Amino acid sequence: MPRKLFVTTALPYANGPFHIGHIMEYTQADIWVRFQRLQGHKVNFVCADDTHGAPIMLKAEAEGVTPEELIARVAESHRKDLARFGVSFDHFHSTHSPENRELAGEIFAALKAEGFIATKTIEQFFDPVKGMFLPDRYIKGECPKCGAKDQYGDSCESCGAVYTPTDLKNPFSALTGATPVMRKSEHFFFRLSDPRCVEFLKSWTQDGRLQPEVANKVREWLDGGLNDWDITRDAPYFGIEIPGAKGKYFYVWLDAPIGYLASLKAHLEKKGQDFAKYIADPKVEQVHFIGKDIIYFHTLFWPAMLKFSGRKVPDFVYVHGFLTLTGEKLSKSRGITVSPQKYADLGLNPEWLRYYLAAKLNARVEDLDFNPDDFLARVNSDLVGKYVNIASRAAGFISKRFGGRLSDEPLSAGRELKHKLRGNVAAPVPDDEEQVPAILFEVRSFADQIAADYDAREFGKAIRQVMFLADRVNQYVDEQKPWEIAKEPGQEAALQWFCTLYLELFRILTI
Ligand code: 2FM
Ligand code: ZN
Repeated sequence: MPRKLFVTTALPYANGPFHIGHIMEYTQADIWVRFQRLQGHKVNFVCADDTHGAPIMLKAEAEGVTPEELIARVAESHRKDLARFGVSFDHFHSTHSPENRELAGEIFAALKAEGFIATKTIEQFFDPVKGMFLPDRYIKGECPKCGAKDQYGDSCESCGAVYTPTDLKNPFSALTGATPVMRKSEHFFFRLSDPRCVEFLKSWTQDGRLQPEVANKVREWLDGGLNDWDITRDAPYFGIEIPGAKGKYFYVWLDAPIGYLASLKAHLEKKGQDFAKYIADPKVEQVHFIGKDIIYFHTLFWPAMLKFSGRKVPDFVYVHGFLTLTGEKLSKSRGITVSPQKYADLGLNPEWLRYYLAAKLNARVEDLDFNPDDFLARVNSDLVGKYVNIASRAAGFISKRFGGRLSDEPLSAGRELKHKLRGNVAAPVPDDEEQVPAILFEVRSFADQIAADYDAREFGKAIRQVMFLADRVNQYVDEQKPWEIAKEPGQEAALQWFCTLYLELFRILTI
């Protein structure tokens, strides 16, 4: 039975071009999806830009454009890169869309009706010059513990202390420099602490669907007790206005994952399919690929939102680690980065990068190191030296000597033996067409294991097996010495036959 898979990657913020970490995640998901499609499964693979929130609003303002103009420009750059890095999303949408607005409204209304939305008045820092409540990252001041100046509202970079913005000494707005004042506002909270919610999450997160290291991390959070989640932001905000609450917006992290559904809806409707029916189908498996920094959102908030709004919950959340560059954390400000745009603009083949990432990826939440020398060595020795080498050794003869035609004799062990004996035997060699040469049997026999590795996201393991086989095939070619067969009179058919066999082996390795 073909599986029905609904697959997403995390939605990228619409505030700038992709960095290499995005390309890694998309490559991981794309390889998995392409594998599933090759197995005959039915996949809807979608993504969207994550367009809302204060940073995008403020960035647009700083550039003197509207947020709509900013996100349109970024979407164009994202689409261009997805195409050139071969990411086969079926649809790439936006959270700033009618579908997302509608679904966010429906989910919020359903949660409210079930008693999962609480209203509380809270006090927060407000920038009187800017006329807006300040998100934590826009409040700075002196560390309450060590006194270091110019520290952010949540933690100290100097001594590592963790605190809340109101603990800061001499706080100031990072936007205007003004001294913030405390101001009250009514906010909606998602009642994650509701016993129904806690009970559901304890089972959903611990029933084996998550990677063990992820399940453990989540259990720590659950054991520590869950806080209700503030899902409101006051105007000015670039987002979705909360129905019935003028001047209040959904926090970007509320509508972002709903964007998965919005993108799927837009995609299915374009194909004339029924979104409501598809998303409620118990046979559909919902799979999210994400990075380790957003586990909380995807294993607590998101399944709870879906569950208590009466929807089907995700089946799997596949978490990957970060990409480091020769052992160091990527950082644009410190210049530790690999630009995918520069890579592609230079004309470097995106398949080389995909191959390198695949060779390093596994199913665990480990960081993965990009090392330029290693990249070069692997592309040259594996891809060119081993894999492509097989094709180039055979294709030259096929095109120069045989007009590009392959042999039409069966790829049987008997044919191989006949060539070895070169007629030096009295009786004719029986040619059982079913029995294939040992090398072909060996290469084929790895198929199930390699498929299982792809399915389990053990791409590095799969690639190692493929390269082991590429070595075996190259050894085999070395034994036959086709360049010598090419010089033997009367051995044209044998040469054509061997080159055909090499190309068949190459075809299988390619798959
Ligand atoms: O961390 C991020 O980059 C977010 N934009 C991911 C959102 S994923 C989903 F929830 F939309
Ligand atoms: Zn400090």
